[in-house]
This record gives sequence, structure tokens and C-alpha cells, in this order.
Amino acid sequence: MPVITRRHLLASGVALSASSLLARLGWAGNPALSGEDALESSSAALTAIAPREQLLFDFGWKFRFGHGTDPSKDLDFGYGQADFAKTGETKVAKADFNDSDWRPLHLPHDWAVELPFVHDDSGTGDDPPRGHGYKPLGRRYPETSVGWYRREFEIPASDFGRRIWVEFDGAFRDVMVFVNGCFVGRNNNGYAPFRFDLTDFLAYGAKNYIVLRVDASFGDGWFYEGAGVYRHVWLLKTDAVHLGKWESVVRSTVDGNDATLALSTVVENKNGEARKAKVKWKIVDSRGATAATAEAPERSIEGDDSVKFYATAKLGHPSLWSVDAPNLYSAMVTVESEGKVLDGERVTFGVRTVVFDADRGFLLNGKSMKIQGTCNHQDHAGVGAALPDRLQWFRLSVLREMGCNAVRTSHNMPTPEWVEACDRMGMMMICETRQMSSSAEGMRQLELMVKRYGNSPSIISWSIGNEETHLQDDMAEQGVKVGSSMVRLCHKLDPTRVVSAAVNQGNEKGVSDALDIIGFNYNQGLPDGFHQKYPKRPIYGSETSSAISTRGEYTTDAQRNTVNSYDGVVPWGQTPEGWWQFYGTREWSAGGFAWTGFDYRGEPTPYRWPSINSQFGIVDMCGFPKDYFYYYKAWWGKAPCLHLFPHWNWPGKEGSEIPVWVYSNLNEVELLVNGKSQGIQKVPRLGHVSWKVRYEPGVIEARGSKDGKVVLIEKHETTGEPASIRLTADRVAIDADGEDIAILKVEVLDRQGRPVPAANNKIGFKVTGDGVLIGVGNGDPNCQESDKDPQRSLFNGLAQVIIQSTMEPGAIHVEAVKEGSAGPELKPAKLVIATRRVQPRPAVPSVKKS
Ligand code: GAL
Repeated sequence: MPVITRRHLLASGVALSASSLLARLGWAGNPALSGEDALESSSAALTAIAPREQLLFDFGWKFRFGHGTDPSKDLDFGYGQADFAKTGETKVAKADFNDSDWRPLHLPHDWAVELPFVHDDSGTGDDPPRGHGYKPLGRRYPETSVGWYRREFEIPASDFGRRIWVEFDGAFRDVMVFVNGCFVGRNNNGYAPFRFDLTDFLAYGAKNYIVLRVDASFGDGWFYEGAGVYRHVWLLKTDAVHLGKWESVVRSTVDGNDATLALSTVVENKNGEARKAKVKWKIVDSRGATAATAEAPERSIEGDDSVKFYATAKLGHPSLWSVDAPNLYSAMVTVESEGKVLDGERVTFGVRTVVFDADRGFLLNGKSMKIQGTCNHQDHAGVGAALPDRLQWFRLSVLREMGCNAVRTSHNMPTPEWVEACDRMGMMMICETRQMSSSAEGMRQLELMVKRYGNSPSIISWSIGNEETHLQDDMAEQGVKVGSSMVRLCHKLDPTRVVSAAVNQGNEKGVSDALDIIGFNYNQGLPDGFHQKYPKRPIYGSETSSAISTRGEYTTDAQRNTVNSYDGVVPWGQTPEGWWQFYGTREWSAGGFAWTGFDYRGEPTPYRWPSINSQFGIVDMCGFPKDYFYYYKAWWGKAPCLHLFPHWNWPGKEGSEIPVWVYSNLNEVELLVNGKSQGIQKVPRLGHVSWKVRYEPGVIEARGSKDGKVVLIEKHETTGEPASIRLTADRVAIDADGEDIAILKVEVLDRQGRPVPAANNKIGFKVTGDGVLIGVGNGDPNCQESDKDPQRSLFNGLAQVIIQSTMEPGAIHVEAVKEGSAGPELKPAKLVIATRRVQPRPAVPSVKKS
């Protein structure tokens, strides 16, 4: 039987359901998964149709720091007026520049996560370095705020006549690009994609040199933003007659049992003279079968001009995209001239209807449901902002596991792989731009976002920004105008989606006037009155909760910077129960988005130094669930759920009262300590049950019943001291493509093999064979150990190691051993991850040294 790999599935547009993905992700670390059973490569789908080539430009770069203020430490760049005076003069991007002492690395790369922490609270608000999680970025840290990247690459002589672009999915933040000594362009924001046409600057049949100066001195937000080329880079090669970037649009209208597809694209002719071209569309369903075809008649395109092509197609009985069945289609769009295909791309789309209704809330495909959403920033333990593609899937799967059905990409345009994973997993999304502004730059970023992601069925609304207090309040007059311009642009580019913003305050003036749907951030006292006063305006909770908790901690202790896991919340926020009992119960409410799914670096809240990340997450920086996770799993999920906390290891607290809580969606829960019943309680809808119990070592047990029958039991036993280490991986076979990863959970066990919940042992990791360690973490918001060193302390019993394959198929051997001499010995753990031969994504080859 042929092995169907994930790459094949992606190529044919097959959707992966979240449940199968989760089962296969086996976050519990299921060693029984064989390589063939597990989902294969995690890298995102390519979209090029030959003769177009889309080459990954991530491998084989060199890096060194520059300097933000001193040209002598910045490759002599910026001494004066002449830096941009003559084309072709930038020495660092020429052949004879010696980069032998630069550090070799692969992209994506975030240098901020590699930097030490600095205790500097001198700025106000979330100024760097605090906003960045105490990483030395910003104009006061010129030595670590500028980085240079350099790479040689070959362009074959046969490419002459093609158009060749370098394309960045996003970088932080101000990037200048030089090729063969020529300045080719710059980018000035941290999240939008950018691309430059290199065609005229390249040497054909020869070596070429590309250099990037990346300056992270300025920021875009108030949270950790990373530094460097933290998303993918591509080299795109097309015919001189080619499809315009992000111009291929598929718009579906459902009409009874059928759907009509409005198809359009733009063809650019970069020849000096006119060319004839026509466009064809082939619509392919999730099994790879042709579902429809369409063609736009031939037209002549003047030299250096472009023409828009249109067609329509009918889909009979389309399989709709939904949260439970994320059916996708692909449109294969090709440009032909004189019977020859000149260029082509695959565009993924879905057929579904989305309605925000002022009375009925939110409807997907006509069915009323609540948005069970979380807001998220984009960084993760160990890797900062530079996430391998698979990690995007992993993070979404963790959220999905608790019943989350939507994410808001607060507060910036997301990375493509996050959107792709949402499309394929059935995770809805509110896609937000960074800058709320109708300035040329603000509109450019918004336009890029809408064009880039306009075909993604997961996106249910565009958001033009977050909490712009001036535009909502003291500059309300300007706010209406800015908001209207941005909303009009969205409508012009995409008449199919409503536009919103995340507004803190009353939503009665300023930017709110322009919005199609009203997003309330916090201020839960306001939406009821607003709904009465404006009964025709749909409402959702754009940002709610801001509950805080430290995983595995059960007391709030300002000396240790911990927050208890029962009811921690900031003054402007709500516990999970507090907000979901509001937005989850009103018929007119569309639902809402909790701040945040994952903990994130920066904006350390509620404590400052030594805290280096926020504690808002429902899961920690590694994705390990906090107790709040199970509130959502109980009330958002569909399966029976029972979660008992805290753990039952309280040495020294014998006889003291311990609050014990259970989150469950069953009818009743009985609690027992060492077999003695502590009473049965009815579970209030959307609530929890709790007891106060005198601690005695042994077993605490919760028995959850439905209709009088015990359905689920959860127990915690008092464990002994740590005796051995356990390593489990999300997958034990990954692709040897230099991109795929295995995500390892590290625990310590007592002599009876039980995980020790409060353990903080330091563990070292030896990784040999065909893989490398790319990051470690433990979810402790106060831990300032390196994310890159091959060692980590457990935090409340857990740590995470991320291992990446090389291009060599074989095996990665991971050994975990106790670090240091203090404390009892721990039996080491070993794990082998197989790396299987795959066809790696097409990439720009490294230049062989002569
Ligand atoms: C909101 C803001 C978020 C985050 C959050 C913390 O006001 O939109 O970015 O700062 O507060 O509670």
C-alpha cells in the first residue's frame, strides 16, 4: 500500500481534521505511533505550478551583529551621505567581501531569544527592554539591535529572461536588502510580507550575493516581537508573463445546493512588448478530483502592463468548510500563451457562509454557534518568534484540544503557516493588522493582509486594530475618518467579509462608528446596554478574560512572582467563568476571544523582573496546560471532562486545609481522600465545584457521574522523591528535511514511575545523530535560563525540548541526564527519533566553495 504522506495530502488539498491531528500529534507522547502512522512533514504547502519555481531561501546564511549608532562597528555603514549614492557600491554585498568570521545559520532566525536578559526598568510602560521580556533591544542597546545576514547563491544562465524575486514572509523590523552591491529596497514594519524584484541586479550563470541589514531598534508593539528574519524567505522565479502577487481570488456564493465561484486574477507582462495570454482555472476537490473548470478568453497585454482576467464556475453540492469538517478546494490557476503554460499557482479556498447577526450572534453555514476564541501572540518557548512550521500546527492543536474554535491574531498580521494550519484544521480566525492608520503605510499593510489571506476560509472577519485609545476617544473625530478609510479599503478588496476592531471603552464614537461588527475588549458592564441602545449592531468579545495563573502554582506570592491557579485575574479582567458565563449565554452574543491562549514573552504581567513573560496564558509558553485549560475543555469541548486540582504533594502541610477544585461538564462530582468521601456536589452549568480538604498524604480522587453513573475518575497520589527521568516525544519519526521537529516532554518520576508534580531538577540533554536541539523551555514565567543551552530546570515537573532534523535520514539520539552534583541521582532517559528520507521542499542550493 502506498504511504500517503502529509505532503501528498497538502498537495491535493485534503483537510486534516483537528481530532485526527491531535490524536496523531499524541501530545501525551505516544511511543506506539510508528513513522507511517504519524502525520508526516509539517512544512507548509507550496503553491507553485511549473514552470514557476518557488524556492525556500532559508538555508545556509551567515550572520553577525552590526551596531545601531557606531558605523565602525556596523560594517562602516552609515558614516555619511554616500551610503545610497551609487548603485552597485555596497561592499558587503559584493564578491570580494570576506564573511569567514560570520556565524553560519539557517532561517527562520530570531536573535532576541538568544540574548541574555537585562534588568532595566528605566523605560515607561512597556518600553524595551521590558516589553520584549527584558531582552536588550531598542535604541539604548545598539550593540544587540542590528544584525546583518549574508548569503551567496547561484543563478543559472538558463534563468535569463525570467523574473526573479526575493520574498520575505516577515522580518523584525527595518530591513534593507542589497544584492551584488546594489540597494534593492527596504521594509519598515515587523509583520507584513515584502518582496523585491531582483531580475535586473542578478548575474546569470554566476554567483550572486544578497545581504540584509535588519534593525530591531524600533518596535511595533508592547510585547515580545523578536529580532531578525524570523519567518521564511523565498526566491520566486517566473516567466516574464506571470500572475500578479496575491491577485488570484476565488469568491464563493452558496446558492441552494450549489456554489458559484467568482474567479479573478491579474497577469503581468514584464516583456518590453505586448503578449497574448489567457487564464485557465481547474478546481480540484479534497480527493484530488476535478470539480469544475473555467477559462478567461485570450487578451493582449501591453509590454510592462497588466490585465485582470475574470471567469465563473459552478460547484454542484460543494462540501462546505466548517469547524468540524474543514473541507478545502484548490484552484489551479494557469496562464497560457500559444498553447504553452507560462505560469501558474495553486490557491486554496473553502466554501462556507459566515454571518454575524445582531440578534442571533454568529452563524457558520447557517448554523448558530458561539465563537470560542483565544487571542495569541506568535512566540514559543526555546525559539522565540522563529517557529518551525510544525510548531504552528502544534500550538493550534493544543488550543483545539480545549475546544477553542477560533483565534484572533492579536495584534498583527500572522505568519502564513498559522493561517494555513487554521484553514486545514477548521480553526476560525479574526485576522488583525498591526497599524490602525489610514496613512499610506497603514493602508499598505492592510491591503497586503487582505490580499495575502483573502482566500482563507478560516478568516471570518478582518480587524483593523486594537485599543487605539486616541482614535476611540480624544481624537474620535479623526478616528471615524481613519476607521472609515480602512473599512472602505477592506470592503473594496473583499466585499465578502465584515470588518471589526478590538475596542476598549464604549464603542459609541470614533473608530467604532465605521465598524461592521462591534468588538468589546473587557468592560463587561457595557455590551448589554450597547445591545439595547443599538439593537442592529452585532457584538462579540474581541478581547476578554486576562485571567492570570502560574502553571502548577496554588498560591499568589509576590516574593516568588507566582499567581494561584484557582482565580487569578487582573483588575480589568474576568476569570474564565466570569467571561464565558457572560458571552456564552446571551443569544445575541457571537462569543469571544480570551486573552490569551498561550503565555507570551514580554509585557510581563502581573509582575515585573524577574518575570520575563506574561501569565495570561491558558497554557504556558511551552503549551503545557494550566488548570484553567480544563475549564474550557469542560465547557467548550464536546467530550466528558473531569479535572481535579491541585496535585497531592504537600510535604509540611499535613493537617492544613487545601482548596480542591474540579472542572467538569458531568452532573455530579464526589471527592474522596484516602477512600473517605468528602461529599458529592452538583456541578453548576458553566461553573466548577470546590472543597476545602485537610491534607493527608495518599490519594485524592474525584469521581464524576452523569445520570447517576460514574463516568470519569481522576486521582492524584502523593509521590516519592524523583528517581528517574522520562522523555516522551509528540512523534518518534520525523522528516529528514532540515525543517521538521519533534517536541519532547521532560518529566521526572518517583520509584513507582509516577510523575513528580513540583519537581524542579535541572536536566541536561545530549543530542547526537541526524538532528539538533533548537530550543528548550519550561513554562516558568520567572526562569531566566538560556533558551538555547542544552539543559533546563523542570518547572513544576515539566520541561520541553525541541529537536529539529537535518537533511540526513537516520536517527536522532536524545539522552537526558541530571545536571550538577546536588540532590539524589536520577536514572537517565534515552529516546530515539527516526528521521526518514523525504523529498525536501525545493530550496536555493548552497554554493559550493571552490
Ligand atoms: C489589552 C491589550 C493586550 C494586552 C492585555 C493585557 O488591553 O489589548 O495587548 O496588553 O490588555 O490584559
